[in-house]
Amino acid sequence: MTLATSLVFSGCGGRDADVPARYRNLAVPAERLASNAARAHGRALFLEHCAICHGVNADGHGIRAEGLSPSPVDFTNPGWRESVGPRRVFSWIREGVPGTAMPSWDILDDRQTWDLVAYLLSVGKS
Ligand code: HEC
Repeated sequence: MTLATSLVFSGCGGRDADVPARYRNLAVPAERLASNAARAHGRALFLEHCAICHGVNADGHGIRAEGLSPSPVDFTNPGWRESVGPRRVFSWIREGVPGTAMPSWDILDDRQTWDLVAYLLSVGKS
């Protein structure tokens, strides 16, 4: 178990260093991530599935956020956006975040998941 965990999380530097191995070399659909269509679709999915905890404005103030520990981060904070890469965000959505209330969203297909990434990496950007 310990060995498996350390293998999965071992990396070689850069923003994707702590991305689980199976996501580290994912092809990132850069053009789609930059498109308004993906961002709008991602926002719609976010309002449907995620806003209850993460807030309708993605600022962490969802109606179910109170009492969650850790509480949802503020995705509109530029510091958050700059500290994560698209593969990292994709893996969090797909796998969930152990030790938190964040479930895994393996019911969403790749395109839906990338559209959520597109939204999260652009929300609050002026
Ligand atoms: C039941 C409440 C809940 C729901 C529903 C939920 N999340 Fe989360 N999410 C959390 C909590 C709590 C965390 C851990 C704190 C944090 O990192 O924001 C988290 C973490 C995350 C993270 C990691 C952020 C980071 O920097 O650590 C991402 C990305 C994320 N959620 C996206 C989503 C998306 C996209 C959806 C909808 C498909 C979703 N979440 C649905 C509660 C929820």
